[in-house]
Amino acid sequence: MLNNHLRRAALAQALLLVPMLLVPAQGHAGSIDKAPMEAKDSAAKTPWQRDESWPDGKWDNYNTLANSVSPAIETPPAVSVPIEGDAAKGKELAFDRTRGGSCVACHVMGSDTPELPGNVGPDLSEIGKNRDDKYLFEYVYEPRKLNPGTVMPPWGTHKLFSVDEIKDIVAFLKTLKQPAVIKNKHDNPAQRAKPVEDRDNLDPIENQAMESMEKGAALFKKAGAKGKACNSCHAKPEQSFKKWAAGMPAYSKKLQKVIGVEEFITRHGRATTGDDYVMLGKENVALAIYLRHLANGTPIKVDVKGKEAKAAAERGKKLSEHKVGQLNFACIDCHQKAAEHWIRGQWLGGFRGQTPHFPTWRTSKSQIWDIRKRFEWCNVAIRANDLPPDASEYGDIELYVMSLNNGLKLNVPGIRH
Ligand code: HEC
Ligand code: HEC
Ligand code: HEC
Repeated sequence: MLNNHLRRAALAQALLLVPMLLVPAQGHAGSIDKAPMEAKDSAAKTPWQRDESWPDGKWDNYNTLANSVSPAIETPPAVSVPIEGDAAKGKELAFDRTRGGSCVACHVMGSDTPELPGNVGPDLSEIGKNRDDKYLFEYVYEPRKLNPGTVMPPWGTHKLFSVDEIKDIVAFLKTLKQPAVIKNKHDNPAQRAKPVEDRDNLDPIENQAMESMEKGAALFKKAGAKGKACNSCHAKPEQSFKKWAAGMPAYSKKLQKVIGVEEFITRHGRATTGDDYVMLGKENVALAIYLRHLANGTPIKVDVKGKEAKAAAERGKKLSEHKVGQLNFACIDCHQKAAEHWIRGQWLGGFRGQTPHFPTWRTSKSQIWDIRKRFEWCNVAIRANDLPPDASEYGDIELYVMSLNNGLKLNVPGIRH
């Protein structure tokens, strides 16, 4: 009797445990370390080299996400007033998009404003009516003196324009006294329709990243250098990884940093099949799409409660506020303070909703970008040196931004302009 009772209790307990064991790891920092991972080498190409189709500038005198070297806020040099500049030249400079996107990236400036101006800043079409020369010069040279929280670049302090060029720009600003008449609705940032992404991302004709996903599925079955394939050890990936990617990135105690799906693939591949799928390589991206796609529909649930994970997410938040590059932007300048505005012809989204679709097919580039490549571009575009894709700073930011997307469903591969 007693024996039977005990046996039944043990059985009941075992049955209770079974479902727990079947639930795949998700959202638990530390559990990632159960998987074998190569932990010594870089997961990226070494030495790291920026995408060769991108601007190759070296902005060593300005902050990156990994350092703080930008010049301190300057007191603008004294200038004699009234400022006698060349307004025609100033207009050219203000409209020249090769000069750091220049002013029209954020401001409408009268009826001659070139196509697709942004509206992160106020319409300056009548700025010449009621601002004095000294104020205008100082605002353009170093806006942080007058407004510490500004997102406007310090054009003088960061040597984007010389003192004489800024005087020319001021001369132009003084000519602006009439509200802008913009005939084409598309060129008016207040009227331009915000982009809606409604293409079917799982349609292989619309989304060329679907081809990569199939490549990932094939790679999963391909025997590697050590004779084993991924599916030698994971025979039913559709079942075992139904939720896994929705819990990524995660903090790894072994690596002492946050790793995403992509870095996991590199390190786990090296330790198991013997394949070396470096980050941003075609195979790496293909497997990342495949693994994330298996978790499509699963609500994102990354762990930011565990002690180390919480600290990492807090670092990520700080980093998202760190001003970088010659143009001096933090992530939050564009994706929080200026979110829901146009910067040039680009609509700035907020952090929530930005990550569930990565890796993403970019129709404007005919390339697939994973999340780290996106971060790198958001650095290079503002003249900040990018970091290698496996940089711990990107890991911290990915965890922080992904935590703001908790609850949204994975939808991979994405498709974006
Ligand atoms: C990234 C966006 C951005 C860019 C690029 C930018 N500005 Fe601004 N600007 C702003 C914002 C936002 C404000 C509103 C005040 C603030 O937050 O500093 C502003 C305010 C100003 C003001 C003060 C307006 C007032 O009513 O007092 C002037 C003048 C100005 N900008 C000139 C320029 C000029 C000239 C350029 C190009 C050399 C330029 N801005 C480029 C974002 C920008
Ligand atoms: C030699 C066996 C073996 C091979 C080959 C192998 N894995 Fe694993 N994998 C493991 C073990 C062991 C774990 C940890 C226990 C678990 O979660 O099943 C794991 C875990 C995982 C996880 C879940 C990680 C976590 O957080 O628990 C993923 C995803 C994964 N492997 C993908 C792959 C991919 C992709 C490949 C091919 C590049 C691969 N595996 C090849 C043994 C293997
Ligand atoms: C000067 C403005 C600017 C800064 C600063 C900036 N970004 Fe972006 N970012 C953009 C633009 C423009 C896009 C494309 C339009 C969009 O989706 O918002 C974009 C897109 C993204 C996307 C993809 C959105 C999607 O739905 O596909 C992510 C994620 C992102 N940025 C993260 C970051 C992070 C993290 C930082 C800081 C390291 C950063 N950005 C800094 C302008 C910026």
